[in-house]
Amino acid sequence: MNILAVESSCDETAVAIVRDGREVLTDCIASQVDLHRIYGGVVPEIASRKHMEAIYGLADQVLKEANLTRKDIDAIAVTYAPGLIGAVLVGVNFAKAAALALNKPLIPVHHIRGHIAANYLAYPELKPPFLCLVVSGGHTLLVDVQDYTKTEILGTSLDDAAGECFDKVARVLGMPYPGGAALDKAAANGDETSYDLPRSKPGENPYNMSFSGLKTAALNLIHNTRQIGDEVDIPDLCASFSAAVSDNLIPRVKMALEQTGYKKLAVAGGVAANSRIRREILAFAHEGVEVFLPPLSLCGDNAAMIGAQGYYEYLAGNTAGMELNAYATKSILGESM
Ligand code: KG4
Ligand code: ZN
Repeated sequence: MNILAVESSCDETAVAIVRDGREVLTDCIASQVDLHRIYGGVVPEIASRKHMEAIYGLADQVLKEANLTRKDIDAIAVTYAPGLIGAVLVGVNFAKAAALALNKPLIPVHHIRGHIAANYLAYPELKPPFLCLVVSGGHTLLVDVQDYTKTEILGTSLDDAAGECFDKVARVLGMPYPGGAALDKAAANGDETSYDLPRSKPGENPYNMSFSGLKTAALNLIHNTRQIGDEVDIPDLCASFSAAVSDNLIPRVKMALEQTGYKKLAVAGGVAANSRIRREILAFAHEGVEVFLPPLSLCGDNAAMIGAQGYYEYLAGNTAGMELNAYATKSILGESM
């Protein structure tokens, strides 16, 4: 089954063709990052407009690259939530028009489920159940993936997402948006024990996380140091900050593996590119856990992951009609549309 998949929830317009949920025939991404960089973050109006400009051309391009015609497409999958509402709407409306014109099923896909499904593309042998740590610019979740379309959230960030904190701290250090990767690079030469930054223990659910206290502590430290005429040691601060983010995530992953008894751990989302976090995740392999860490190209936003999850949503009967709407926020739990 060839699924034409569409992703437009933030600042990447992406269209892909995925066969039977596991094989990427083509995957095209038009990134807007350079445009938003001058503003230090994503400007929603600009994002929506640029998605509209790019989406039709990308759809033609993926067909051409896969050497297919519109007749070879069996269904259309699209990110319908969560994301910047104007941006998600562009993808949803394009997908609805394509499904109507081609008379093919329309499959709504939750963006976070898509991130998890990137693992199915990178690891064709991977099947649920497994534990998945989702760490992106907008979301931080520890998910029990019981089946392809059945997930339980063990814990979540109660405030900022890990990626958002990386980007805010990077910005104050003068790194261009999105600064997570630059901060990671700077951390390579730093001493992570130099700066004392907080580790969170929010609320009653031990799996829940918090990053805003850590972010504020790091920002205050930078501002206070500069106010007295000193400069922070950038590599040391970046290393200490990365270690603090990692310490907020990894012990919870460990606890969840112990509690669920799962021997399979997958990771998803752009922050999975972080070297400190990757190192810690890979270390679980020494404890008999099979670790699934997709390549960086599949960790960030892309449409192939939407096509992969779309296939399993289709098999579960989760299709939609022309009434499908876009949502800025929606739980991953998959209540019917
Ligand atoms: O998953 P993603 O591409 O987009 C969202 O759905 O949010 O994640 C983007 C996030 C950004 O916050 C970016 O700074 C962060 O991933 N990121 C990193 C690294 N590479 C990307 N954060 C820390 N270390 C990295 N190496
Ligand atoms: Zn994402």
